[in-house]
Amino acid sequence: MALLLTAPNLTEVVLKQLAERVYEASGIRLTDRQRPQIETRVAQRLQALRLDDPAEYEKHLGSEGSRSEEMEIFLDLLAVHESYFFREISQLSFVADDLVEEARERRGTEPVRIWSAGCVAGEEPYSLAMLLEDAEAWKKGPIDMLGTDMSATCLERARQAVYGKASLRQTSRARRSRFFEPVHGGLRVQASVRRRVRFRRMNLYREGPSGWMGQFDIILCRNLLLYFDVPARCRVVEALYSRLRPGGCLLLSRSETLLNVRTRLQTTEQGDEIVYRRAMEEKA
Ligand SMILES: C[S@@+](CC[C@H](N)C(=O)[O-])C[C@H]1O[C@@H](n2cnc3c(N)ncnc32)[C@H](O)[C@@H]1O
Repeated sequence: MALLLTAPNLTEVVLKQLAERVYEASGIRLTDRQRPQIETRVAQRLQALRLDDPAEYEKHLGSEGSRSEEMEIFLDLLAVHESYFFREISQLSFVADDLVEEARERRGTEPVRIWSAGCVAGEEPYSLAMLLEDAEAWKKGPIDMLGTDMSATCLERARQAVYGKASLRQTSRARRSRFFEPVHGGLRVQASVRRRVRFRRMNLYREGPSGWMGQFDIILCRNLLLYFDVPARCRVVEALYSRLRPGGCLLLSRSETLLNVRTRLQTTEQGDEIVYRRAMEEKA
């Protein structure tokens, strides 16, 4: 039987301090409406660490620093890891059919580079890899696909690539049999698709614009900016901008915009899609 955890009563002060620590470490702005969820998560950590009082936990988090293992665990418990295959499929098809072709014209024989930022357990980049398979895009030239998330547990699930009903709720029977195989615990993405995507852990808010990743032709950052406030969005969008090649595109989900975000990205419309583009020529 699962142990019922009694949520501790967080004082306003401790709640505020915890929210600040989470913000500093991730850009995620916790709101008062999330209090019950935060209380449950703190209760889990108090039990795991054999501590009694939320204030002690807050001190523990603080003493360990914003890059500590404990902070990663706490962020993992608080973040929303919701995703499913073929989410907003018309946008993913647009990427597979139009944007990749367009990027290929610019890249010649060099790989077209695609990054799924905040990829959870891989549902988004694997869906795109499947649509690229449908479009026979892999036959036309190299494509390099990267999925990143700040959550180590999500990335471990991405590498395992075994999914249950919730992740597959928008996946047709035809696609299930073409791209998945039944295994214990659900359906596993076939190896031919798995090998198309690399996964790396990365905190978008903390890592600056430089770094190991290089630049991309297409960045998907869908359903993530909505958890940030405006300053955090500005910071993350600037980092995404710097990781786009000239002419490269950023796509957000349909429910997100760059309203109030100061950015050099240009907003363009292609059919029904909003595409944020880095200019080909940069003004000095
Ligand atoms: C709602 S999910 C994104 C879903 C997916 N992109 C989609 O549209 O289906 C948000 C993900 O962003 C990740 N995340 C939140 N803050 C982050 C940060 N600062 N850096 C990297 N990943 C972050 C969370 O771990 C979570 O897995």
